Parts: sequence; structure tokens; C-alpha cells
Amino acid sequence: MMPEGATAHRAPSGQLENAGVTRLVLTHYRSYDTLHFTCDPSCVVLTGENGAGKTNILEALSLFSPGTGLRQAKLSDLTRRTDAPTSSLWSAFLHVSEDGLTPLSLGTGLDLREGKERRLIQMDGRTPLSQSDLTRILGILWLTPAMDRLFVEAASSRRRFLDRLVYLFDASHASHVAKYDYLIRERLRLLKTRTANTPWLDTLEEKAAQVGVALAAARLFFIERLNRIKHDALGYLPLPHLEVDGFLELHLKTHKALDVEGLFQERLRQNRSVDQESGRTTLGPHKTDLVVFYNEKQMPAAQSSTGEQKALLLSLIMATARLRSQTREGVPLLLLDEVVAHLDPVRREALLEEILYLGMQTWMTGTDRDAFSAVKGRMQHFHLEKGGLTPL
Ligand SMILES: Nc1ncnc2c1ncn2[C@@H]1O[C@H](COP(=O)(O)OP(=O)(O)OP(=O)(O)O)[C@@H](O)[C@H]1O
Ligand SMILES: [Mg+2]
Repeated sequence: MMPEGATAHRAPSGQLENAGVTRLVLTHYRSYDTLHFTCDPSCVVLTGENGAGKTNILEALSLFSPGTGLRQAKLSDLTRRTDAPTSSLWSAFLHVSEDGLTPLSLGTGLDLREGKERRLIQMDGRTPLSQSDLTRILGILWLTPAMDRLFVEAASSRRRFLDRLVYLFDASHASHVAKYDYLIRERLRLLKTRTANTPWLDTLEEKAAQVGVALAAARLFFIERLNRIKHDALGYLPLPHLEVDGFLELHLKTHKALDVEGLFQERLRQNRSVDQESGRTTLGPHKTDLVVFYNEKQMPAAQSSTGEQKALLLSLIMATARLRSQTREGVPLLLLDEVVAHLDPVRREALLEEILYLGMQTWMTGTDRDAFSAVKGRMQHFHLEKGGLTPL
């Protein structure tokens, strides 16, 4: 986003200072009929009682990344429910500001034309953007209480989580994931017809192998970098060690990408009849799992205590934020929903200090305003009541 020749201040970590969201407008969105919120591009604390609308705000921000946001909600569920019948569709707009540059205006909202639910994304009110385009503008990372069970859920949740983290570092990853899914679906559809046109199948499998290897390599590269984050950087949290368990990722550790592409393409060809029978693709990066270990205890996260799993997840998110703060492309945004409430005062303060040090705009929520007293005057603090935000 930075034009050539422009200069900007950088925090010690290398992160752009004064870059972040400065305006958020919600219309017919969940509990908000309308919300007009302006702030500085620095950290934002939102407090308010249960049901005040804190998570709804973080969710609206998370929609400026690929997917359906931090609750993975159905798009129509985001439309404000009222007693009065309404046909109004929800929308969210924001300004992303960078030091000395005109703010960029982004909008997203529900579109029901063409008889199905779609999410429209626009820049400056005109230019349509794809979901993958968003990753070049904003790098959004979030942690919510609903993610507490990530390590014991199905592999698909961890894979989606891993891919979202990779979006922050590889602007083409989101489009690779979407393209791979399309190619694999298309291959299965062709196989189902049983009149499969072999040259077209060959082409689909060749492309799927290329894109599949690219996305597996990006996952591996991210994990290797994350595992190098030093102990002392996250001393207040347990250090996680990550492994990626997948056919392509495993082969990429010991073989050249081109060889792995060839191998995957060959396996896809061999598996045609099995896949035709089962209606599933037996092998590929859509089966990969992220395995997290509690490093000091050499224990898989799935077998760690509930509290340890929570701390490991926060540690993983903060390690990613630390790594992201050294990257220059796009404006990073960290959304932490109800995270500080569960930490003891020492860890809470360490987390808040680290967030300030990273210089990345972070939005945090909580019910207890005193939980943020350590950063009073150093973070913007708003209290939510009756759908309105009051600066504290
Ligand atoms: N589509 C919708 N239309 C109207 N209201 C909704 C819709 N979806 C959710 N809500 C309401 O929004 C309110 C605020 O929810 P939100 O999750 O943002 O609260 P919160 O401040 O994060 O609360 P907590 O502290 O309990 O996490 C809830 O009362 C919820 O019922
Ligand atoms: Mg909430």
C-alpha cells in the first residue's frame, strides 16, 4: 500500500507505526442498527457488559479478510433481526489509514442478487475486490473464546486456522486455497459423470498438483519460521512447537517441489477409480493437519490441560503477531476477544506490554475495565452501552 518513495515511521520491530483502522460504520449489522465509530490507528480497548456488542464489532472487522469472519456465521445471520419486518441488508465500511497517506475505504455487505447469498467487497466505493485481494491490504489475526477447543476439534478446523495464519505472510495463499478447492471439486464432478474426458482430467490433476504443492510449501515455510521464534520473546507464555502433518508437506521436507508435484499428479491419476467410488479425494493438502506441541513438556497440545491449551493458543497467536510485525506488506490487525480476563495480573501486563511494543493496531474486548488499567492512557479505551461507544 505504500507508494514508491513514501517514508513512514517504524516501530523497533520494523512494523509501520500509525497504520490501522480509523473509522468503522455498521448498518443493520447484528445488534447495530447503525454504528459510526472513529478512532486513532493505535490499539483499541472495548469494554461493556455481556451482550453489549463487543464481539459483534470484532466480527465486523474480521470480515475484511477471506471467509465468513471470526464466528464463521451464515451471511444472512449477520443481518440485524428486528420485530419489524425489514428487507435491509447488512453492510460494514472501514477506513484503513497509513501515516501521511489518504485513508483507504473498504466496504463489504450482503448481496442477494442472482438468487444466492454472496458477500460483496469494494474498495473506495467502486472497485470490486475478491476475498483474496483483501489479504494484500489487511492482515487480520484473531483469537476468540470459541477457539479454545481448536486442538481437540477435527483436523479441518486446524487446517483452516493454519491457512488463515499463512494468509498473513503469503498474499497468494488465499487464492491458491480457493483454486485448489475448485480444481479438486471439478475433478470429482468429472469422475462422477463416469464419462470422464481423460485429457481434461489430466489437465485438472496437473493444475491441482501445482497449486497443491504451492500451498503446502507456503504452510511449511510459515511453520518453520514460527518455530524459530525464540523462547525469550514469549517468556510469559508456554512456547508451542508446530508440525504439519500432510502428504505433500512431508515430501516437501526431503524432495524438490517439482518432484513432489509429479508424485502428487501420479497419485491423483492412480486414485481415480477409488475417488470415483467414494466421492472423495483420497490424498492431498485438503487432508493436512496442524499438530501443536507444548514444547517444554513434549506433550501434544490435544493432551494438555484446558488452561495449557488456552495459553498455547494465545502463545501461537502472539508468536505469529511478532513474526507479522516484521513484514512490510499490508496493514496488520490483531483482534483479541476476551483474552486478558483469563490471565493472571503478571501475564496480563506482559501481554499488554508486548502488544504495545509490537506497534500493531490491536482491538481487545473485556467486561472488566480495570483489567486494562496497566495501559491506561496508552491505549484508546471505549465503553459500550446501549449500542453506543463512550471514550473513557
Ligand atoms: N442478527 C442479529 N440481530 C440482532 N441482534 C443480534 C444478532 N446477532 C446477535 N445479536 C445480539 O447482539 C448482542 C451482542 O452480542 P455480542 O456477542 O457482540 O456481545 P458481547 O458484548 O461480546 O457480549 P459477551 O461479553 O457476553 O461476549 C447479543 O445480545 C446478541 O443476541
Ligand atoms: Mg463477546
